[in-house]
Amino acid sequence: MSRLNKLNQDPFYCNTTMVKLYDELMETVDPDVDHVGWLRGAVGSDWPREILDYGAGSGRVLKKLRRSGCTSTFHAVEPDESFAKLLSDDSEIAPVHVENNLSAIDATNIGLVFCTYGSLQYVSGIEAIVEELTDIHRIVESGSGVCALELFSSEAYDEIEEPMTVPIYLADKMWQMTLNVEHFDDGLMTSTTELRDGEEFAVMRETVLPVSVETTRDLFAEANFQNISVKRHGAYNRCVAS
Ligand SMILES: C[S@@+](CC[C@H](N)C(=O)[O-])C[C@H]1O[C@@H](n2cnc3c(N)ncnc32)[C@H](O)[C@@H]1O
Repeated sequence: MSRLNKLNQDPFYCNTTMVKLYDELMETVDPDVDHVGWLRGAVGSDWPREILDYGAGSGRVLKKLRRSGCTSTFHAVEPDESFAKLLSDDSEIAPVHVENNLSAIDATNIGLVFCTYGSLQYVSGIEAIVEELTDIHRIVESGSGVCALELFSSEAYDEIEEPMTVPIYLADKMWQMTLNVEHFDDGLMTSTTELRDGEEFAVMRETVLPVSVETTRDLFAEANFQNISVKRHGAYNRCVAS
């Protein structure tokens, strides 16, 4: 199935230099993010036996869970081949069962489905988000668990209009980082992050549909969730639901 969106683009693109720099970049731009604490709060006292990371990228958050003492079996949904390979090869989080889409996940004991940094929104519209959320609801319900998802907040991204360039130190040298956000009529947004140091160039382009806190709540309700909590957290709406 083609992943191209309405703009005829792959909604998520990273070149190989960006894949290599991704973890360090995130650590540098968002050093205090407490994903482990947030997920811990969502599940309560014990980690469930099986956990699914939706749009796991490099496995950044799974590695943090392991380092914090979590011994659960990990599943990941990751369509990008370079990131999927990083996940499968990583001994720290092994064994991790990586699939390239949600419908390929067949485990029935998953007690936590989580998604950090908005991976659920690389789709072409509201209906596609509700479809994914409905599948997540099915997984969570069969494992008597919860989901904890961060969705790009329209409140945060509507405020960004001008491109922004700042120096950033990564991989032992200084880069110029530019963030450019383009808004489209139907609510879609393309956010492009570029890093340049003269010879080297890294780029990540993300086309997503940011949503408001109110819409986020409606989407979860439409996908059959009953206990829904949504709170704005920086550039994302954090939702915990079951
Ligand atoms: C910004 S990265 C976030 C990675 C990770 N969650 C983190 O917190 O670092 C977004 C990830 O979502 C993945 N992705 C793109 N389209 C997706 C889809 N349709 N379903 C699941 N994941 C997707 C991308 O390949 C990428 O690895």
